[in-house]
Amino acid sequence: MRKGVLIFLLVQVLVIGMLVRSVWTLLELLVIDGSRDQISRAELPAPNSGAIQERPQLIPKIIHQTYVNTSIPENWKEAQQSCLDLHEDYEYRLWTDKKAREFIAAEYPWFLETYDGYEHPIMRADSIRYFVLAHFGGIYIDLDDGCNRRLDPLLAYPAWVRRTAPTGISNDVMGAVPRHPFFLRVIDSLPEYNRNWVLPYISIMASTGPLFLSLIWRHYDREGPVGVDRVRILFPDEYNNHPWSFFTHHIGNSWHGKDVQLIFWMARHWVMLTVIGFIVGFSVIGCMYWTYGRFSATPRYRIRGWRYRVAPWSRLEKKGDYERSDRHEV
Ligand SMILES: *[C@@H]1O[C@H](CO)[C@@H](O)[C@H](O)[C@H]1NC(C)=O
Repeated sequence: MRKGVLIFLLVQVLVIGMLVRSVWTLLELLVIDGSRDQISRAELPAPNSGAIQERPQLIPKIIHQTYVNTSIPENWKEAQQSCLDLHEDYEYRLWTDKKAREFIAAEYPWFLETYDGYEHPIMRADSIRYFVLAHFGGIYIDLDDGCNRRLDPLLAYPAWVRRTAPTGISNDVMGAVPRHPFFLRVIDSLPEYNRNWVLPYISIMASTGPLFLSLIWRHYDREGPVGVDRVRILFPDEYNNHPWSFFTHHIGNSWHGKDVQLIFWMARHWVMLTVIGFIVGFSVIGCMYWTYGRFSATPRYRIRGWRYRVAPWSRLEKKGDYERSDRHEV
């Protein structure tokens, strides 16, 4: 093989390696499903089982929810009430915009600038739930999630989140003891992950939403937390759909815009998009190779009748390096 080709291939491998490395955690999310930390149905007592009382109660009995103010919209009242009715002995905290900001200002002033600077209100709603869980502990529940049974069995795990399709974890229901290392890591990472990714949906997902949480989860999990430091995962069957599931998911709230339809469309057509991606990728590599081959095979470049011995853009300042040739020769 020619030396030039070898160098070309090495550069390609290096470039691809760097690309893969930068999206490694994302790729990892495609294969890691959290089953190692799954809260299995076998270990969960049935809704009215006496075994519930015998389990440790680590997470404090607090339910956190968030909304703009205290006037909950009609379509979520039923879901909210279902959780209140089942948990009369739990403390209930509704974090309105006003209360949330006061809390951040008083307890986490280092975060206030990021918090106030968030472009979309949902980003404040996302972040406040991590802070209250890290601070007070308890269970956070989205307003469009209703309760299907008492959450007591879930109090036995120091920290848990919910598995979501097609990949990663969600932030719509979560539970933790106060100052759990995972949620401390989460709140600590928020300022660093606050970036604009052009499409609002992606910016929200990756800065404060489920994608952000999933990335932190992968980084955290890679360090191999054991015992009370582990983050346990609630799988779809235990989340909803069954009589023994903990939650019922109501009509989705729609903070989504047009870009979400694009993303959902992409998610539905990911096989086709992957194939196109590979075709485009290989075409680019092919073009680069072709270009490289041309430039290395012919040491002269013709530009507007001038012929150069070396690439004109590399030596333009040294006029002596090229020579004028006869235009009629061509
Ligand atoms: C609460 O917020 C909603 C939505 O922004 C608004 O329509 C409503 O008037 C507010 N209610 C009060 C009591 O401020």
